[in-house]
Amino acid sequence: MHPMLNTAVKAARRAGTVIVRALPDIDRLRVETKSRHDFVTEVDRRAEEIIIKTLKAAYPDHGILAEESGADAGNEWEWVIDPLDGTTNFLHGFPQFAVSIALRRRGRLEQAVVFDPLRDELFTATRGEGAQLNDRRIRVSRVADFDLALLGTGFPFRESDSVAQWVRLFERVACRTSGVRRAGSAALDLAYVACGRLDGFWETGLKPWDIAAGALLIREAGGIASDLFTDGDPLDSGNILAANPRVYGHMRTAFADDTRPADQPTRPAN
Ligand code: IPD
Ligand code: CA
Ligand code: CA
Repeated sequence: MHPMLNTAVKAARRAGTVIVRALPDIDRLRVETKSRHDFVTEVDRRAEEIIIKTLKAAYPDHGILAEESGADAGNEWEWVIDPLDGTTNFLHGFPQFAVSIALRRRGRLEQAVVFDPLRDELFTATRGEGAQLNDRRIRVSRVADFDLALLGTGFPFRESDSVAQWVRLFERVACRTSGVRRAGSAALDLAYVACGRLDGFWETGLKPWDIAAGALLIREAGGIASDLFTDGDPLDSGNILAANPRVYGHMRTAFADDTRPADQPTRPAN
């Protein structure tokens, strides 16, 4: 394993231990609201601290872009970190959350780790060397028929999100595929596309730390991860379409004429 990936794995496993140990006491956790429906706990912060400490001990000059503590500039290398992706699931004891760590060099993704501490599933990738799940090589699915595809997505939940746009996109795929799942951790959803459990995924309004590791996993597993409507970088727009190449084509066609920008945010009446 590449030494930088090895360090990322060590950091992800340490964060996973912090998260799993906290689970029996979730009722007593201090929860802060970043914005309505967007939460952070002391577990997110502790997991992030241990990740950064582990990475910085090995690579003190590398930069950091982390969800809870922000950006810390460094040399041409930058770690992109989501210490706990799926905080809302975690807070409910709903067993679907992960640690996500990626490394970029001058903006290009080089290493990726997504770790599910409950199932002890470790997804890793190094650019040009393929993707693995617990040391076994993974590939995206071979499903080609859209009718047989199982898709993942994320629902809008912040007041600034456009529900109307999501509904329009959903209508275009709902009855043309085998199903659509909303599991609650974008990083893990993308890892599931990489290993073929999902055939495609889309979501808007994501941040680089939600997507970075998953995008490299998918590309190294033979899939495509792009902006939702263009061939652009999903890390720039936060809107992602990711799938095996055949399903990617179906999804692009299905979403094609919805390139208008998201509608005005849908605000609840209260
Ligand atoms: C969230 C999860 C969720 C997605 C949200 C993300 P967080 O990350 O990935 O699946 O729908 O957009 O913000 O806040 O739990 O790290
Ligand atoms: Ca996240
Ligand atoms: Ca998070």
